[in-house]
Amino acid sequence: MTPRKRTSSPAAAGPTGVDETSAVFGAAAHEIKNALGPLAMTLQLAERQALTGQPVAHADLAFARAQVQRISRLVVDLMDLTRADLGQLVIHPAPCDLRATIASAVETFRRGHPSDITLELPNGAMPMSFDAARVEQVVLNLLENAARYSPAGAPVVVELSRTTAFARIAVRDRGPGVADHEQARIFERFVRGAAARATQNGGLGIGLYLCRLIVERHGGAIGVDSVPGAGASFWFELPCR
Ligand SMILES: Nc1ncnc2c1ncn2[C@@H]1O[C@H](COP(=O)(O)OP(=O)(O)O)[C@@H](O)[C@H]1O
Ligand SMILES: [Mg+2]
Repeated sequence: MTPRKRTSSPAAAGPTGVDETSAVFGAAAHEIKNALGPLAMTLQLAERQALTGQPVAHADLAFARAQVQRISRLVVDLMDLTRADLGQLVIHPAPCDLRATIASAVETFRRGHPSDITLELPNGAMPMSFDAARVEQVVLNLLENAARYSPAGAPVVVELSRTTAFARIAVRDRGPGVADHEQARIFERFVRGAAARATQNGGLGIGLYLCRLIVERHGGAIGVDSVPGAGASFWFELPCR
């Protein structure tokens, strides 16, 4: 993987940084509003069904939960962006089983999304030292992107493997992929690429930036391999310690 330049904080970026940040907060408010509308309608319908003794459809509740998940991830990303800008995005590594952490992240994502995810895990526990909540956050971000940028129902594979030095997690999708010239840039702050312009669905361009910070603070690396048109494999490696 090619080393990537660290971006500067908005405090150092002057007025441009402030403009960028307020544009992102505006976009975030818009996304939250867009997610809250259908959520409110679904809950109103469920309430009416419950009051009239009708069964509340499971699909409606699953949809409501997915919307809440989406909003809460967005809010967490915004809080982390502020922490990162203040130099306060710290990780708290502790002994943990990476295999269980990856399985749990995939399970969490599956609960809110009807996607076709295959999980490929090695046999046996993988005890290492890492920040489990942060590593789950990275996996959830990669899964969210895979689902967002691929055609509905397209399969996604999450694979965990290891060498003696590193554990490697890859999230492979069959979406549009990422062109060579975009591959390093999309890990920068506020950068959105061709896939985002094509789908025209909301996003803030901070997910992969936060993933990179989290992985780098673990002493690891993150990247993407892709043949545009045939899908993408987003991967990250964590040192086995
Ligand atoms: N699985 C993927 N397939 C194709 N492009 C992707 C994928 N994941 C991320 N990208 C590209 O990387 C960009 C940055 O991703 P991210 O930082 O998560 O921000 P956002 O999803 O809000 O745009 C996206 O706008 C998109 O162009
Ligand atoms: Mg994203």
